[in-house]
Amino acid sequence: MNQHDTSDQRASDQRASDQRASGQAESDLRARIAATLETARRRTLGLTDCLDEDGLKAQHSPLMSPLVWDLAHIGNQEELWLVRDAGGRPAIRPDLDPLYDAFQHPRADRPALPLLAPEPARAYLRQVRAQALDVLDGADLDPDGPPLLAGGFVFGMIAQHEQQHDETMLATHQLRQGPAVLDAPAPPPAPADAAALPAEVLIPAGPFTMGTSTEPWALDNERPAHTVDLPGYWLDSAPVTNAAYQEFIADGGYTDPRWWTPAGLRHREQAGLTAPLFWQRDGDTWLRRRFGRTEPVPADEPVVHVCWYEADAYARWAGRRLPTEAEWEKAARLDPATGRSRRYPWGDQDPTADHANLGQRHLQPAPAGSYPRGSAPSGARQLIGDVWEWTASDFEPYPGFTAFPYKEYSEVFFGPDYKVLRGGSFAVDPVACRGTFRNWDYPIRRQIFSGFRTARDADAPHTDAVELG
Ligand SMILES: [Fe+2]
Repeated sequence: MNQHDTSDQRASDQRASDQRASGQAESDLRARIAATLETARRRTLGLTDCLDEDGLKAQHSPLMSPLVWDLAHIGNQEELWLVRDAGGRPAIRPDLDPLYDAFQHPRADRPALPLLAPEPARAYLRQVRAQALDVLDGADLDPDGPPLLAGGFVFGMIAQHEQQHDETMLATHQLRQGPAVLDAPAPPPAPADAAALPAEVLIPAGPFTMGTSTEPWALDNERPAHTVDLPGYWLDSAPVTNAAYQEFIADGGYTDPRWWTPAGLRHREQAGLTAPLFWQRDGDTWLRRRFGRTEPVPADEPVVHVCWYEADAYARWAGRRLPTEAEWEKAARLDPATGRSRRYPWGDQDPTADHANLGQRHLQPAPAGSYPRGSAPSGARQLIGDVWEWTASDFEPYPGFTAFPYKEYSEVFFGPDYKVLRGGSFAVDPVACRGTFRNWDYPIRRQIFSGFRTARDADAPHTDAVELG
């Protein structure tokens, strides 16, 4: 064998080894996608098998769809994107498209539609899933291929869609009257060092990379990566607790117009807000209803079910403000040691049960100061999981935004009507949660699992920061 033959041989060995590696990577990706779709489906069935036909068809709140609508809508979106679009296959149930198009029917109108009954809806989901997995088997997931399939994007998008509806269905369960049907263990108690955490952490001035151009399953509104330069600021170490929020209530925070924006004040009066949703007074104590059970409000848990106006008013009362979306993301992603933005506060590793309260493992937030292994470099905890955190920011596109794969995903929602929430809640699955993930809602909404933390400018005078409860 001469020199030339040897180098040819080496090149061909290298090609064969590259092909084996990329074949292995693609089969690992297929297995991960199938498992992710299966996780979502188990949760969907768990949230719907626990109610009878009447419970699934009923509208438990005008804010929500009947659960049986969510159920078949999950299947219909999967059919549209995985079976028809990615798979190029004929429609299974084209007659269902208009019924389950979220843009054609507001939630309040959905109970009057000729919806599939629960059993046919479940059968439809099974039929669609079987075809979707067949499409997955033959799909070309090459990261450099067409964007819909590259890195399995459309499969990831549909898994996130199902999980987001599961979160919505969990919110419907919380609104539902009647005996409890869901169960989960309580989160672990706060770690020993939680009480000694500083109330706030300093994030020094400087640029960071916001958004992503590389995360394969990131949605269009998280893209592209771009540099944002911020002045220094202080951020609460943990989300605002029920104990701290009760001080705001006890101090007359709801009735003092100094803390409310004009729009917030109008809404507070119209809606008669006096406490977080699901709270009720019992003598000197506060009780709350949580998934069909009434219990004392736990002092050290992050407050949940507050609207943006309430979060904003609390922050003003505390002499502080809500963080902007960029401030939240910088605290959650920037590694000051390398200057790089990571996927999560703790690094690039996917979340585990040690990092964050995600995936409906528990049916409530964990005490403030939990999850030391999920800390950001600044020492801030629980940026991911527990409660969605309201930010000061309107939902706007990043510079260079392009709608993908359709305008109705994000673009139609951009503008001042919606406020951004970050970080995910206990009701969010890891597949739909990362340092770049953006959620948005109206500032009056509080049936969602929403809380907040506060901030102040680094050069702003220090007021009595509210201690962790
Ligand atoms: Fe949807």
